[in-house]
Amino acid sequence: MSAILANGGIKENRRELDFYPTPPEVTHALMKFLFEKTILQAESIIWEPACGAGHMATVIEKYSPDIISSDIRDTGYGQAGIDFLATILPCDAVITNPPFNLSEEFIRHGFQQAPVVAMLLKSQYWHAAKRVSLFNEYPPAYVLPLTWRPDFLFDQRKNGAKGAPTMEVHWTVWARGDIDTKYRLLSKAQL
Ligand SMILES: C[S@@+](CC[C@H](N)C(=O)[O-])C[C@H]1O[C@@H](n2cnc3c(N)ncnc32)[C@H](O)[C@@H]1O
Repeated sequence: MSAILANGGIKENRRELDFYPTPPEVTHALMKFLFEKTILQAESIIWEPACGAGHMATVIEKYSPDIISSDIRDTGYGQAGIDFLATILPCDAVITNPPFNLSEEFIRHGFQQAPVVAMLLKSQYWHAAKRVSLFNEYPPAYVLPLTWRPDFLFDQRKNGAKGAPTMEVHWTVWARGDIDTKYRLLSKAQL
């Protein structure tokens, strides 16, 4: 099945295994928030299990150097050939941008590995009857909408051209023991 992603004028078939790199400011905003709330610390062991070319991992490791990066593909970054859904690796946090068609499986599996799970998801992710049971089973601690639209095709733009991205996203954060879901806006952050 081939969906079309429209993102600021560029239309393309969805890339293999949903490989869309995350612009760095998206991960900075999350990590800044998690550190301010002391949900994570510099010594936390973090697993980025769908690391692609490392666009999230390289930001995460600036905050927490003990990072494990893996991907089902050989991307030239991190450990190749690791199917997250078939791997058990206890750690302090799982943070990623899951392939959209496997997002629920990634969330459920993430929670089996770590007390903290953060997933970058489309803004309308929770606006769906089919996700009520997931939300109720694993009530998030935070839903964090980004106050800007990230450009997921930034790696394709030529000569510094700016796109007009249309996709709105948010981070959902689960922190074991904190089931009172809070809604906070995330501002752009640079390190
Ligand atoms: C949306 S990209 C995100 C890449 C990176 N996290 C980033 O934000 O730049 C999704 C990644 O998930 C990987 N992937 C898909 N299915 C996977 C699985 N079952 N286990 C591990 N990685 C998987 C793809 O190879 C792809 O690199």
